Amino acid sequence: MNVQLKIRRYNPELNKKSWWAEYTLLDVDPSDSVLDVLHKVKWTVDGTLTLRRSCAHGVCGSDAMRINGANALACKVLVSRLADEDSESVSIQVEPILGLPIIKDLVVDMEPFFDHYRSVLPYFVNDSPTPVNGRERLQSAEDRSRFDDTTKCILCAACTTSCPSYWANNRYTGPAAIVQAHRFIFDSRDQAYQDRLEILSERNGVWRCRTIFNCTNACPREIEVTKAIAEVKNALSTGKV
Ligand code: FES
Repeated sequence: MNVQLKIRRYNPELNKKSWWAEYTLLDVDPSDSVLDVLHKVKWTVDGTLTLRRSCAHGVCGSDAMRINGANALACKVLVSRLADEDSESVSIQVEPILGLPIIKDLVVDMEPFFDHYRSVLPYFVNDSPTPVNGRERLQSAEDRSRFDDTTKCILCAACTTSCPSYWANNRYTGPAAIVQAHRFIFDSRDQAYQDRLEILSERNGVWRCRTIFNCTNACPREIEVTKAIAEVKNALSTGKV
């Protein structure tokens, strides 16, 4: 399969503006991922192409990017998925995720994203002594299921950077941080849910969400992000978790 690849490139040492670079790759295996294609460019055409990746198996979350206009992990999108049926060629357009400062090519500065993450107390809080054998805090399967979905987040930022509310106002906590807060707010063993709800009730908290669903569509882990956000909104409205 032939691939016409367009990559939005940026190197502040060469040019203050980004530009589109185009590459033609012949005989690409349709079962290759977009990450494989980017590697091909970096390793055989232009070694200056800069991108982030690690596991190449959809686990680490480091290669979120905009592929043909939609956020995804480059390692999880196969070339064949982007091509029309029976077509021998495909056009692929790759850009950095939106709403975060670009450092170089496809690499963005994730610090503003992690600032929001840290702001919601994304860790277990319980200062009382462990009740069972001094080691365990037991939980029913039913209680565990309340936050099962949000434990799957890998902090790739695909959801937050697909959100128009976040593009308009990057002080908005954003879907990923709310997902992380949800994971602990609905954990029956945790004691800091009120602190987290208070943080998310503030001006740039959960009410900035306009239920657009881009976040749910973008999540490579298929987390029901918009539903999780709605559950947090509901807990704030009713005062109950
Ligand atoms: S490289 Fe780890 S998720 Fe894609």
